[in-house]
Amino acid sequence: MNFVGAHIVSIDQFQRVDVEEVFSVADRMLPYALRQRVTRVLEGAILGNMFFEASTRTRVSFGSAFNLMGGEVRETAGFDSSALIKGESLQDTARVLSGFSDVICMRHPVEGSVADFATASRVPVLSGGDGANEHPTQALLDLYTIRKEMAAKGRAIDGLKIAMIGDLRYGRTVHSLGKLLCLYSDIEVVLISPKELRFPAELVDSMRTSGIRITVSDHLIENITDVDIVYSTRIQEERFSSKQEADLYRGKFRLNHAIYTQFCQPNTVIMHPLPRDSRIDANELDADLDTHPNLAIFRQTDNGLLVRMALFAMVLNVVDQVDDYAFNVRWFNARQT
Ligand code: CP
Repeated sequence: MNFVGAHIVSIDQFQRVDVEEVFSVADRMLPYALRQRVTRVLEGAILGNMFFEASTRTRVSFGSAFNLMGGEVRETAGFDSSALIKGESLQDTARVLSGFSDVICMRHPVEGSVADFATASRVPVLSGGDGANEHPTQALLDLYTIRKEMAAKGRAIDGLKIAMIGDLRYGRTVHSLGKLLCLYSDIEVVLISPKELRFPAELVDSMRTSGIRITVSDHLIENITDVDIVYSTRIQEERFSSKQEADLYRGKFRLNHAIYTQFCQPNTVIMHPLPRDSRIDANELDADLDTHPNLAIFRQTDNGLLVRMALFAMVLNVVDQVDDYAFNVRWFNARQT
């Protein structure tokens, strides 16, 4: 894949060699993400950060990644502050915004919308999620995290067994992660969800075709006893017709310290794309695991910065110039105390 000037809207675009190139560039971004060094390589560049659906980490980490490389961020959050609410088409919005920006990141609630927007954009478009379809940069940061966590245990991505848990029908992060795992060998995936929220059948078929061994179940305990990774997800309430309907599924697959300690292997890595639902009775991924060393959820969010910096560097063709425009930080760095 030629990253320079490319839109990143689906994991379907990636081969394994492309993923490993992203990971290799992400590794090189660590001193910048840790604020040991600052680079101005994107000074003068503008990111249009267009989020038409709620987001904390994707929106802010895209923006922070761009700022950390010296670029400026212009942001639209929600339909109310966009002319889309006046009936402007996605294509016209893309034609206009790509005159103002060097790269655009976009989240939109409609499946396929980011790819549609990209067709009319004159600058690269990176998806921050399109409805229940895909969240490609989240999958890249998830797999980057898996790679790091397993490397610390002397393991590779090939040969892993991963349990994906929760709302697998509407959870776009697992759709993209499932596609990404197809690029690796000897992978086993257990898909644990209520029957009504199962992983899309066509994705299961294509994962099986690529060689992944898949078990589909609506039982948690017996399916997490021998996995390397448990990847929990939130019930995607915003995709249901009502909160009452979403409530039918909330709290079904609770993972807490007692369940983890009793049923998982001692070194099973705990992941979640976040946000996790921390409201009473959500019972999704309990806070009593927060200090557990195998809980990787905040390492995932930190890794998101590295992966998104890498994608900006690759798409805007500055990978080999990042260090040339760098200097040491002058301010107090709390990360180093
Ligand atoms: N993981 C993720 O997409 O989080 P946000 O919705 O906060 O961006």
